[in-house]
Amino acid sequence: MEPGRKLVIFGATGRTGRATLELALEEGFEVTVLARDPAAVAEAVRGQDGVIIVLGTGNDLSPTTVMSDGTRTIVEAMKAQGVRKVVACLSAFLLWDLQKVPPRLLPVTEDHIRMYQILRDSGLDCVCVMPPHIAEELPLTRDYSVSVGASGASRVISTRDLGHFLLRCLGTDRYDGQSVYVCQSYAKE
Ligand SMILES: NC(=O)c1ccc[n+]([C@@H]2O[C@H](COP(=O)([O-])OP(=O)(O)OC[C@H]3O[C@@H](n4cnc5c(N)ncnc54)[C@H](OP(=O)(O)O)[C@@H]3O)[C@@H](O)[C@H]2O)c1
Repeated sequence: MEPGRKLVIFGATGRTGRATLELALEEGFEVTVLARDPAAVAEAVRGQDGVIIVLGTGNDLSPTTVMSDGTRTIVEAMKAQGVRKVVACLSAFLLWDLQKVPPRLLPVTEDHIRMYQILRDSGLDCVCVMPPHIAEELPLTRDYSVSVGASGASRVISTRDLGHFLLRCLGTDRYDGQSVYVCQSYAKE
């Protein structure tokens, strides 16, 4: 998808969502955002070239279905509206040994797993981005490393580099159907 095309971001008020929205506008995308209104999802998806999902629960680590419920609604709306491309932000824990997930992060990870299944079963052109720790304070480098199905050299990515990659995935089918890890070794201050 080239700049100037249309996309909708679900989760645009979150940490990664805000960074992604800012970059998308800079890059000339026509962006629709939606805040907590399931009834409006079909309308938001209609006529878009692509969808970005960055739903999350902030600092609330309690059991949740926010991400899987939201993803199910979005996927159903996309199918109904004939929109095929979705780039979703999940978690690197899905690439690693689940036994090693810190217990406090298990409930959110379990919902990422449900979200992943919905995306995999959707039949859509779907990129599952699996980031490690997401850091707001780190810069946009555009020079992060990308690995399919496996971890990379570092365990951090900035919100802006992650947003940059989410947008990049819209413009290529290279990562469709894949689980993709992104990370960067940021210079120490
Ligand atoms: N933090 C990390 O280091 C890290 C690492 C790996 C993966 N992840 C995952 O990456 C994803 C993005 O993380 P983030 O920290 O950028 O997200 P975040 O700051 O938690 O933002 C979440 C977004 O989802 C929206 N949202 C929450 N509940 C909703 C609902 N019921 N209906 C509609 N929208 C809803 C929020 O809207 P409101 O503004 O209205 O609340 C917000 O826009 C999450 O799935 C997170 O678990 C995070």
